[in-house]
Formats: sequence, C-alpha cells, structure tokens
Amino acid sequence: MASDKEEKSNSATWRLIGPVTELSKKQCRLIYSSQGYDSDICLFYVRGEFYALDARCAHSGGPLCEGDIEDADGVLQVFCPWHDYDFNLRSGKSSTGLQQQVHEVKLEDGSVYVRHSSQLSLQPFPPGQES
Ligand code: FES
Repeated sequence: MASDKEEKSNSATWRLIGPVTELSKKQCRLIYSSQGYDSDICLFYVRGEFYALDARCAHSGGPLCEGDIEDADGVLQVFCPWHDYDFNLRSGKSSTGLQQQVHEVKLEDGSVYVRHSSQLSLQPFPPGQES
C-alpha cells in the first residue's frame, strides 16, 4: 500500500479534466495550458479509452486534435493534418522517428484525470532508431 505521503505527492500532479460521460462524447478535446499544464493537451477518446498527447505536433506544431485516427494492425494512430505524420496514441512514437509527448490518464469516480509528464520532452525519441 502506498504511504499517505506518496499518495499526496502523486495526486498533486493529477488534474481533474471532467466527467467521463461528457468527455467520451467527442473523439478529441483540447485542454488548454491555462488549466495548469505546461502545454495544451489533446484528450482523445477512441474505442472506449482515453489518451492524452501534446496538442501541437512534434514536427512543426500542427493541431493534432484535428487529425484523423486510424487503426494500423491494432495500433491506434493520429495523423497530423499538416504533413500527415503518424503518432501512436499510446506511446507518441511516429514512424518518422519523432516522439510526441504523451501524458498519463486515469479514471476515478467517473472523472478523467491527466498528469503532465514533462520529463518525456527532455528525452526525444532518437530519429531512425524505432524498433
Ligand atoms: Fe505535424 Fe508537420 S506539423 S506533420
């Protein structure tokens, strides 16, 4: 069991986005940085699951919320509307070698919470080394 101290430090970084019943009505919602995040976030809802990624494409800042979602052999991807780069909704990896920042999502008591993972932006996926 996690200690109370650990639980408090973890919960401090989780931000309440809203009720699952509302957020599951749209495929993507834009969560603005003014709500306490370092950057705007796209909250996707696809096939019963939520995914959170930085809203601006890692390539040149395109609006990922406006991208098409496709299933490539069971892997859900969003395609940036500007240059059509693909990004895995779960990992943020692209076949181009770019890494889109992803954020943790949890559901609790009928609400959606997101935790911003700023560390990932310090460790970009090295181009040409995707397995
Ligand atoms: Fe997204 Fe170029 S800005 S692919």
